[in-house]
Amino acid sequence: MARPDPKRSSLSANGRRPSARELALETCLAVQQGHSLADCLEPAPKRLDSERDRAFCSELSYGFCRRCFLLRDILRQRLDRPLKPRDRDVETVLLLGLYQLRYTRVSDHAAVNESVKLLQQLGKRWARGLVNAVLRGYLRQPDRRCGLEEAAACYPGWMRRRIEQDWPEQADDLLLAGNRRAPMTLRVDLARLSREQALHRLAGVGIEAHAHARVDTALVLDRPRAVDALPGFAQGLLSVQDAAAQLAAPLLDPRPGDRVLDACAAPGGKTLHLLQYCPDLDLLALDKDAERLQRVRENLDRGGAQACLRVADAGEPDSWHEGRSFDRILLDAPCSASGILRRHPDIRLLRQDADIPALANQQRRLLEALWPLLRPGGRLLYATCSIFREENELQIADFMQRHPDSVEVTPNAVQWGEKRPFGRQLFTGDQDMDGFFYALLEKAESP
Ligand SMILES: C[S@@+](CC[C@H](N)C(=O)[O-])C[C@H]1O[C@@H](n2cnc3c(N)ncnc32)[C@H](O)[C@@H]1O
Repeated sequence: MARPDPKRSSLSANGRRPSARELALETCLAVQQGHSLADCLEPAPKRLDSERDRAFCSELSYGFCRRCFLLRDILRQRLDRPLKPRDRDVETVLLLGLYQLRYTRVSDHAAVNESVKLLQQLGKRWARGLVNAVLRGYLRQPDRRCGLEEAAACYPGWMRRRIEQDWPEQADDLLLAGNRRAPMTLRVDLARLSREQALHRLAGVGIEAHAHARVDTALVLDRPRAVDALPGFAQGLLSVQDAAAQLAAPLLDPRPGDRVLDACAAPGGKTLHLLQYCPDLDLLALDKDAERLQRVRENLDRGGAQACLRVADAGEPDSWHEGRSFDRILLDAPCSASGILRRHPDIRLLRQDADIPALANQQRRLLEALWPLLRPGGRLLYATCSIFREENELQIADFMQRHPDSVEVTPNAVQWGEKRPFGRQLFTGDQDMDGFFYALLEKAESP
């Protein structure tokens, strides 16, 4: 979805630069209208004056998305009647005010007064009494929920139920983990730099990090940094990528000369990793989104890697496939992203329950379209950043039932994730990793 046009926002209509709170308000309103948080915040560095403002805007926007359902519940209990839909902006000012009081070190006085000031910018001075009363009321009588009760209230009901139904044993941990902040994890191009060398270089510029215990390309930073501060980032020696995502290239394990399809490639984290893992590949990277595919190009350029890039619907090979079969296919399928809530807390606002079967249909369509393009003996890696069974093990169970020529070869002798009837599931937060699913399928040789 396109980014909201800041020029059209009433908050910055007078042409002056917005404050961190104004930009956070604009961002949170846009997310509630269906825009992605990362897209909305992308222009923030140019629109805010200082690093401090940028950090504060980001803290408010991410925090709002992470806690929105709990904050709405707190607000609902304190209003005589709900606000009208046209006053979503006033409601968002209230939620951001509550967020500051509950979760930040902003002084109570500043949180209340600055929230009231935002109303002036919105042209809704009539709501000053309301905002004052609700926020001051919260200070007198805060909401006492904590631990699991608090964590569970941060999810939309349908998402919480799905997590509880799919994973009765792991649900509590998943609900808690999905609200935490994810570490910043790097991938080292081991062909050019060892992890020890990378750690040494990082330490040289004052960045503390440690080697990931389970994934041999991964380093975990002690705290997030701007990518420009990472020595070797511009040359592709280091890339930002969760450790779970770094498992894809070694699992697919392409060999020199292989013809490889990366069917849903953008923004290209795994594409570059595949080429760093094995540079001598004939790799075709597809994505149906032209703007996002451009990011694959930037990623490959950064790492000095070569591939053929094409804007195409992977589910319609007639429009792009030239007839030669592939040795390896990576299908990093579009999914609910329920495994990466830590990094993309807006997912809980953007997704609906009905999206899951629709996504499962898309995944099924892609699997069906791509399987015939794999040579006998070739391998397809199916990946999602989802923790929902319908998109993962159930999808693969269903696929394998329809395709007797598919054999599951997902490795078992690994130290990550949980073996499932089909594929392996990584649970959000386990071993500092995102929630991911992998299933590796081989096409049986013809008799
Ligand atoms: C999970 S993301 C891929 C992430 C990527 N593999 C990486 O590691 O950076 C899924 C991608 O699939 C793309 N996509 C969705 N449906 C598609 C389709 N039918 N054909 C090609 N690409 C598609 C989306 O635009 C999105 O970029």
